Amino acid sequence: MGVEIRVEGLTKSFGSQVIWSDVTLTLPAGEISVMLGPSGTGKSVFLKTLVGLLKPERGAIWINDRDLTKVREHQLYEMRKLFGVLFQDGALFGSMNLYDNIAFPLREHTKKTEAAIRSIVGEKIELVGLQGAEGKLPGEISGGMRKRAGLARALVLDPEIILFDEPDSGLDPVRTAYLNQLIVDLNAQIQATFLIVTHDINTARTVPDNIGLLYHRHLAMFGPREMLLSSEEPVVRQFLNAQRIGPIGMSEEKDADELAAESGQELPPLPPIPLQLDTSNGMVRPSARPAGEWGRANGVTPPPGSFQSANPAHGMAKT
Ligand SMILES: Nc1ncnc2c1ncn2[C@@H]1O[C@H](COP(=O)(O)OP(=O)(O)OP(=O)(O)O)[C@@H](O)[C@H]1O
Ligand SMILES: [Mg+2]
Repeated sequence: MGVEIRVEGLTKSFGSQVIWSDVTLTLPAGEISVMLGPSGTGKSVFLKTLVGLLKPERGAIWINDRDLTKVREHQLYEMRKLFGVLFQDGALFGSMNLYDNIAFPLREHTKKTEAAIRSIVGEKIELVGLQGAEGKLPGEISGGMRKRAGLARALVLDPEIILFDEPDSGLDPVRTAYLNQLIVDLNAQIQATFLIVTHDINTARTVPDNIGLLYHRHLAMFGPREMLLSSEEPVVRQFLNAQRIGPIGMSEEKDADELAAESGQELPPLPPIPLQLDTSNGMVRPSARPAGEWGRANGVTPPPGSFQSANPAHGMAKT
């Protein structure tokens, strides 16, 4: 069973540049959460802070009653074993073939025999569809294959917490669909706590239990998928529906003139909320909630046509 991560009042700066401040959210144990936000809002910095690679100026990250931002180096080393992380750039060792790259965390963190390692690595390689490429160097394969090798490596230690930074960037649409199914199936199987950074609106709308949006140096919103997909809050609405009209401009915030030019333009209605992606084998995810439950509990009527299919509105563009 995954563990809960409780982030309280977290603030991160580099020199005088505040990346985000006062971020408070709880990643519920065993649930899938997605973090969205315009490029440069600090999503990757957030993931790196969660694993203790970057130190925040203020705030706490509570995991199993320990504040990861305050523990000593050797405790941090222990806590890191809870995590499986896929960094945005894949971060494979260029001089090691895929097999050795994927085996690396097992050799580093466990005393398993090479035979045991071979079986685990083989299983993960199959999971991400890289059979036959074990002997290749990262420089000899495509970007999408490197991404999948990074995924396999993130999973070898059977982590309780899985952080994926844009696992779907550079993947073709079919592989993205497979990846999303893999995430849901994995979550059902191992019930780890997932946080996925993505720019793919279709993924954000159909995969997670919770969605967060980082914007303009703060966390604009974090909550159940249905809450954000029925939200009329301008930034959330604009981002989750991939629209040009709204407060977000090409270089983050629109200026007053741009906003004035838009005033009076009618926003298209909110598209229907799609059904959440189900497991492929009918296994039940304990954290999956019945469609429409959040709206019923909170007196919010979802947009017309919601929960009729898993396909989001047609023509939904990538951000
Ligand atoms: N080690 C660092 N030192 C100084 N500044 C940094 C460092 N890492 C990131 N930044 C800055 O922090 C900001 C947020 O970067 P980050 O990579 O987290 O954005 P992002 O939301 O992941 O963007 P994208 O969607 O393009 O991946 C950027 O302005 C970046 O230049
Ligand atoms: Mg990033």
